[in-house]
Amino acid sequence: MLIAPSMLASDFSKLSDEIIRMDISGADWIHLDVMDGHFVPNLTFGPPIVAAMRPYTDKPFDVHLMIDEPLRYAPAFLKAGADIVTFHAESLSDPGQTIETIRAGGAKPAMSVKPGTPVQKIFPYLDRLYMVLVMTVEPGFGGQKFMPDMMEKVRLLKKEKPDLLVQVDGGIHTETIAQAAQAGVDICVAGTGVFKAPDAAEAIRNLKAAAQAALK
Ligand code: DX5
Ligand code: ZN
Repeated sequence: MLIAPSMLASDFSKLSDEIIRMDISGADWIHLDVMDGHFVPNLTFGPPIVAAMRPYTDKPFDVHLMIDEPLRYAPAFLKAGADIVTFHAESLSDPGQTIETIRAGGAKPAMSVKPGTPVQKIFPYLDRLYMVLVMTVEPGFGGQKFMPDMMEKVRLLKKEKPDLLVQVDGGIHTETIAQAAQAGVDICVAGTGVFKAPDAAEAIRNLKAAAQAALK
């Protein structure tokens, strides 16, 4: 299981320190939650902040766009150093065009569904996607409760395309990661579970161990 700590739960007044802390704690990817105040009822940061964080680690930047117009802003995030760009099936942009723009910019395209959206909405694009993100909370805020019912979506995706990377995001802790692992999830985003733990390296190790144990 790969772990992608979400910078949403970091101390925003010390972003470079927080990125370095994740880098040395064994994070696989760095998850960056971008919110526009329209797609979700919260605001975070845009391309300049992503670019400012970029020099502090070589780990992949996994940019999760919770915005209405991913097609319009994807080029700016690519320029800022995004490696994986995830946009939502519920956004206003054309999925085919958005996927093409992300690929043309040299990054890996991924799509996500909110809890209320059937995952089948993404099926027509699976062959063009690097990853699918199944939201396990209503997007917008960290620290919410994991929705176990979403594991059915993970199973459907893996049945449809076994080699597709599947990520989950929201409410991942040592108690919930077992369900994700058993459903076939490859990458877990963890915000509060890593950043608010007394020792981030230990938290990441514990998450990986709990996922591993669930597969035995
Ligand atoms: C929610 C974000 C998540 C969030 C996860 O909209 O996409 O990445 O930060 O936070 P936790 O792990 O605290 O649920
Ligand atoms: Zn996210």
